[in-house]
Amino acid sequence: ADGTLVDRYGRHVTYVRLSITDRCDFRCSYCMAEEMTFLPRAQVLTLEECLRLASTFVDLGVTKLRVTGGEPLVRRNVIWLLERLAVLPGLKELVLTTNGSQLDRFAPALRAAGVARINISLDTLRADRFRAITRVGDLAKVLHGLDAAQAAGFERLKLNTVMMRGSNDDEFPAMVGFAVERGIDISFIEEMPLGEIGHGRQSTYISSEEAMARLAEHFVLVPSTESSGGPARYWRIPGSATRVGFISPHSHNFCDSCNRVRITARGELYPCLGNNDASQLLPLLRAHPTDDRPLRAAIIHSMGIKAKGHDFSNQMDAPQVVRFMSMTGG
Ligand code: GTP
Ligand code: 5AD
Ligand code: SF4
Repeated sequence: ADGTLVDRYGRHVTYVRLSITDRCDFRCSYCMAEEMTFLPRAQVLTLEECLRLASTFVDLGVTKLRVTGGEPLVRRNVIWLLERLAVLPGLKELVLTTNGSQLDRFAPALRAAGVARINISLDTLRADRFRAITRVGDLAKVLHGLDAAQAAGFERLKLNTVMMRGSNDDEFPAMVGFAVERGIDISFIEEMPLGEIGHGRQSTYISSEEAMARLAEHFVLVPSTESSGGPARYWRIPGSATRVGFISPHSHNFCDSCNRVRITARGELYPCLGNNDASQLLPLLRAHPTDDRPLRAAIIHSMGIKAKGHDFSNQMDAPQVVRFMSMTGG
């Protein structure tokens, strides 16, 4: 059924990001407000519903699934779901984005379940800063999680680093050095104005260009044509296995080649991260427990509301997207 999901601009949707919980054991200051309330269980997709949704998308030609959150590994029985997602006929890649807090416990089971790659959020290598950014997180635990993931045999591990002036911007070379030592990849991300987090984001914004200039003082960066099918543009460091990526929603728009949609833990389909348009799939799932046709029709229909792109300019201190990042996991 390849090519079934095509939007008004001719973009093929082959990648679904599935948020399996809005809950998180961290409270990253760029992602959440200090006081967050989480959804009541009845409003959240059951794992069976997650599986049914994913299976319908794969049937419609989706080949890559990324499981996200909140923090996906705080969802009970997550391994049950991953094992079933991994073997959906037609799926080429099952991947996971995590904050790493539970990886020391979960890494071998994730590998056994068929997860191909893991992206780990890590904004700093300093314990005091880590605590300040995540409000509650423990850096040592995440680093143990990274060790466990490497020991479990995961290749192509990737760190995700949100760039924040005055917070972690003096650490970019050290973080790349850390990635090189470990033989893993790292992506630097321009912060996006998603959700009202209680402070503006303009004053801490840093562009990829500025970060790159700082890195170039310490490393030789060679442009790479490789892509993982995501928005990152990559550079290689000669003599190392590491790729350094930049995700630049502000300075280098990548919407023209967008290939993805996301599902929230509440069963909403968001065709674009930077817009508020959504389709409600949960009521359909529950109204038609055995007939997938209404669900398929709604998914196909939603291609018609996929926005041409996002425009975050002038929004950094006044987000127009009210949904927090923890709802869609990016
Ligand atoms: P791979 O390329 O498969 O490694 O993954 P990825 O970089 O797409 O996913 P990841 O979960 O690691 O996300 C990294 C960052 O990219 C997050 O901050 C996401 O919000 C951002 N991102 C992913 N997809 C989109 C998108 O469609 N639009 C925007 N603006 N940002 C995105
Ligand atoms: N802007 C950019 N990236 C963000 N993330 C969370 N909130 C934001 C934001 N407002 C990152 C997380 C994680 C990835 C999925 O998204 O750090 O690595
Ligand atoms: Fe949790 Fe990720 Fe949001 Fe941090 S960025 S609070 S780890 S969902």
